[in-house]
Amino acid sequence: MSGHGNPIPMISRKCGPLKGVANVPGDKSISHRSLILGALSVGKTEITGLLLGEDVLDTAKAMRAFGATVVDHGEGNWSVEGVGVGGFKEPENVIDCGNSGTGVRLIMGCMATSPITATFTGDASLNSRPMGRVTDPLALFGAKSYGRKGGRLPLTIVGAENPVPVTYATPVPSAQVKSAVLLAGLNAPGKTVVIEKEATRDHTERMLVGFGAELTVETTEEGRVITLTGQPELKAQKIVVPRDPSSAAFPVCAAIITEGSDVLVPNIGLNDTRAGLFTTLREMGADLEYENLREEGGEPVADLRAKYSPNLKGIEVPPARAASMIDEYPVLSVVASFAEGDTVMKGVKELRVKESDRIDAMAKGLRAAGVEVDEGDDWWIVKGRGFGNVEGGVTVESRLDHRIAMSFMVMGMATNKPMSVDDGSPIATSFPIFEPLMADLGAAIERSNP
Ligand code: S3P
Repeated sequence: MSGHGNPIPMISRKCGPLKGVANVPGDKSISHRSLILGALSVGKTEITGLLLGEDVLDTAKAMRAFGATVVDHGEGNWSVEGVGVGGFKEPENVIDCGNSGTGVRLIMGCMATSPITATFTGDASLNSRPMGRVTDPLALFGAKSYGRKGGRLPLTIVGAENPVPVTYATPVPSAQVKSAVLLAGLNAPGKTVVIEKEATRDHTERMLVGFGAELTVETTEEGRVITLTGQPELKAQKIVVPRDPSSAAFPVCAAIITEGSDVLVPNIGLNDTRAGLFTTLREMGADLEYENLREEGGEPVADLRAKYSPNLKGIEVPPARAASMIDEYPVLSVVASFAEGDTVMKGVKELRVKESDRIDAMAKGLRAAGVEVDEGDDWWIVKGRGFGNVEGGVTVESRLDHRIAMSFMVMGMATNKPMSVDDGSPIATSFPIFEPLMADLGAAIERSNP
């Protein structure tokens, strides 16, 4: 799969204990939504702690192309002067969302109910991902889409001139699909309703309310029913982006598998829809504490303290928890390799349509490193070998997938021989400071020659 630039081969070796404080960057999901909702508001939204990952920077560029004034004031401080709901102008050029499924799906949603046309593209990974899951519900509002076979990018959306509100039950557990429908509903008159069987991350709902939209959530037998009243005037906000639990996962898991480690990862949001990995690690016997548990902006926040955990055991991860840790299964499978016994992960079909087929990418790399993995369409089992028994010593393809690259770099900290990836460049999409942050803790991760 081709990327955007030169591949960056990387190698990770066994290292001394990891010690210190890991200040991980801002939350990717909330960063995208801050820029997008800022662009749909009236007035100047001020954002601090924005993630400076490539995915988010692509969304910032896209918001400019639709007419918002987006300014980088340095050090994660940004402002967005919005055009208001329904105020998007037609972009003059193709919108390139790079590697970001969240970026492209949310942006398609918020332009689909305006009388403008936009064409979207991305890198080889994004252009192979399914978009029908978003264009199908957008068609119900009256938008038309013309994509490649299977609804793949590059794809053009002709926004609805006279959008109608929609009631839509999401067929897959996806916050991106839910969010695309809600954002489209903003410019449709009347009430747009989204029903999701399983709760997925709820940042769009919380932030829409924060920006002044009328939105209610009910829990019923069919699931969560989200009702949005269309055509609100969204008002500019001041947003402090919390740190990303999905990025915190990497130093936390690295500390758990590296002898003698003790790492503090401060200010991590423990929103129920995001914190499934930490619950799972604790059930496996990991020494992971929530220190200074508090509430910030209506969300539980804690400082995570992760220590080396020599007695990990495999567990069955409840399928109902899948959505709350969907991005964390790759690094969980690494930790599971060093546990005693099987870690069973079911109800995880969505992993097959992420930046890569994450079950396949991890299973191939883990097997090459000496770990047995069984898999089916929507499940996989990692047969833990215990510490000291995982050989490693192989190079794994990262497939333009940041989380695959970072997971194998974490793995190399505890395998007998180093682990390599063919290309670590995708790490910059979500965690641009991964290498210096891990080096500060004492990790031995280096760029290697191809
Ligand atoms: C995200 C939703 C999830 C997640 C992605 C971010 C979001 O994707 O994997 O990294 O910000 O809404 P799906 O909606 O495809 O599950």
